[in-house]
Amino acid sequence: MSANVSPRGKQPTQTYDSAFLKACRREPVPHTPVWFMRQAGRSLPEYRKVREGIAMLDSCMRPDLVAEITLQPVRRHNVDAAIYFSDIVVPLKAIGIDLDIKPGIGPVVEQPFRTRADLARLRDLTPEDVSYVTEAYGLLTAELGSTPLIGFAGAPFTLASYLVEGGPSRTYENAKAMMYGDPELWADLLDRLADITAAFLAVQIEAGASAVQLFDSWAGALSPADYRRSVMSASAKVLDAVSGYGVPRIHFGVGTGELLGLMGEAGADVVGVDWRVPLEEAARRVGPGKALQGNLDPTVLFAGTEAVEAKTREVLAAAEGLEGHVFNLGHGVMPNTDADALTRLVDHVHTATAR
Ligand code: CP3
Repeated sequence: MSANVSPRGKQPTQTYDSAFLKACRREPVPHTPVWFMRQAGRSLPEYRKVREGIAMLDSCMRPDLVAEITLQPVRRHNVDAAIYFSDIVVPLKAIGIDLDIKPGIGPVVEQPFRTRADLARLRDLTPEDVSYVTEAYGLLTAELGSTPLIGFAGAPFTLASYLVEGGPSRTYENAKAMMYGDPELWADLLDRLADITAAFLAVQIEAGASAVQLFDSWAGALSPADYRRSVMSASAKVLDAVSGYGVPRIHFGVGTGELLGLMGEAGADVVGVDWRVPLEEAARRVGPGKALQGNLDPTVLFAGTEAVEAKTREVLAAAEGLEGHVFNLGHGVMPNTDADALTRLVDHVHTATAR
């Protein structure tokens, strides 16, 4: 074991005592740690500047650019963790799926997955397929010092929703048609995606991620019964596959109030909560033994400092009895958000929770 590797996992030892990782482990913290989903992105003028003329997926494959974009919100906002700049469709692109991220739309898959024959288009992901990821982690861990770096991946259901729909959807009618109409094909598709996702997270942890977040952003489209029957085992496979590293596993979705218990049960150490369920109620649904992450409504940031502070006090009050709390928004930073409002929010949470 090399000197800078913690016995608890592969994360650099200097991040181990950070407020973020302590909160994930439900240990006492000097202040409530804060980071924001989509903190690296369009809300920052310096992001828009370095991305000028470079397509989203191209930027994800350039280690120098990934490192710069990942660091921008850390420098500007004093957040307690960095999140690796990438996108949930990067591992699919890396194994040869013809897809693109269209500005203002999102991921678009050239030929949607609809039949059993399409499964042959998914092969295993190897570290060589994403060597630029390993390279960017190397640059980042050298720069970040004691600030933890969060790795992430899309969960099987959310990835399948893009593959089967061919792009973003409000109803998920094609994905659900497969789930209800051909449950065996659906199960095989999610199982293949689970293997790819687990391999992609393992690459990131091996390269220095101190925690990982599994984004099942669109799982809120499912009833608890359907989630349990048709989705949960694939997400559990991913979370279980990386459990041996000992890095915290965060599991997040939008509109998942009815699924919080199951998403915890799938194998999360930290359950991400959107803004629809107060944290004390989320804690009841998740049960003991897990930390929570969330959950300020991202639109509150448009309402001015007083409103932001009032709503933040509500979130912090709801979090008071929790075993561990990582402050975040209930979903990603919206592109038109004032970057200074985010900086003020970090400062407010740190000050209000200083122990
Ligand atoms: O700071 C961070 O959180 C890291 C960066 C990050 C991106 N995508 C960059 C990005 C992360 C964590 C993601 C994850 C992601 N991508 C999710 C899960 C999180 C969530 O929001 O629920 C999902 C569902 C996607 C798919 C996706 N990619 C969407 C819906 C979009 C937005 C489309 C648009 O243009 O409005 C993208 C594109 C994307 N991913 C952008 C960024 C910064 C915008 C593209 C750009 O800047 O040109």
